Amino acid sequence: MTPIRIAVTGAAGRISYSLLFRLAAGDLLGPDQPVILQLLDIEPMAKVLQGVALELRDCAFPTLHDVVVSHDPHQAFAEAEIVFLVGARPRGPGMARKDLLKVNAGIFAEQGKALNRVVSSDARILVVGNPVNTNTLITIRNAPDLDPRHFAAMTRLDHNRAVSLLAGRCQVAVTEVRRMTIWENHSATQFPDLTHALVQGRPALEWVDQEWYENDFIPVVQHRGENVIELEGRSSAGSAAHAAIEHMRSWIFGTPADDWVSMAVLSDGSYGISEGVVFSFPVTVKEREFEIVPGLEIDAFCREKLALTEQELLQEREAVKALL
Ligand code: NAD
Ligand code: LMR
Repeated sequence: MTPIRIAVTGAAGRISYSLLFRLAAGDLLGPDQPVILQLLDIEPMAKVLQGVALELRDCAFPTLHDVVVSHDPHQAFAEAEIVFLVGARPRGPGMARKDLLKVNAGIFAEQGKALNRVVSSDARILVVGNPVNTNTLITIRNAPDLDPRHFAAMTRLDHNRAVSLLAGRCQVAVTEVRRMTIWENHSATQFPDLTHALVQGRPALEWVDQEWYENDFIPVVQHRGENVIELEGRSSAGSAAHAAIEHMRSWIFGTPADDWVSMAVLSDGSYGISEGVVFSFPVTVKEREFEIVPGLEIDAFCREKLALTEQELLQEREAVKALL
């Protein structure tokens, strides 16, 4: 089988350390598909990156065809069919994700341009680096020859957090939870919505009371990233790498007939969300193309929460307009 090129940025960082070995082992594309990992980090991290490449080779993974390391995005993105844009500064204690906009935005303008020139025209590009929604918008706008529908921001970690929390509350297996929806800017304004979620096929809101939903579930999901930083002193990495793999698997292999996932994509105006911001919607995927789930009822409670997180994205977009 022809090897598939997977590019990963921030490859000397923490999330990548949890991601790369799984990509090399076939966790994304399966045990029969060889992959070439094309790893990018900044020049000062060259030695660390070489070390990571050595370790990858030392595993003798049958699916790892080759590893390329570089500090040049053109080399790292060349002909890649799958791209994970992880490389960016993480926040520390007491910071909001949008505080990272100034330091990280430029990375995505530069990498968008490089992607535009050299990546496979059919590549699927997942942005992980924060603030992830606006970084994705910057990348899209700097890659005008690529299809904007081939870019997404990762909100799968919030989705998984919400599924796990709900399953725990209902004392069922996580596989019994379906139709979780995360509407969001990936920030503390995000809205994990249980209105359409099902537990063992029954509405989630019949399983839990409104008090728990509003005062426990929603704020816990909204602040889980901070909570991890408080406990570990650094931001989530293992769970983020896992979410990145799951997001990409859904994008490549599709979603089950009776379920959907959350992905942040360029808004087409669905559910009244302004066009031209990258917003997390419930989506289904078939043959590598996503569709925003149509026709969900949005009540006044949900509408207010959607407006709040959309407003924040509009402000972030305004702050980076020079890069768009
Ligand atoms: P890290 O600091 O461990 O690693 C980041 C790596 O990116 C470093 O090796 C750094 O040298 C590299 N880098 C910086 N500028 C680069 C550039 N221009 N090109 C290539 N590489 C570059 O951080 P981490 O813990 O791996 O987190 C990475 C990012 O992911 C952060 O912004 C973090 O906030 C974000 N994150 C997002 C989610 C999400 O759900 N979307 C979850 C967790 C973390
Ligand atoms: C998360 O949700 O864990 C990440 O976005 C990291 C962070 O800064 O919270």
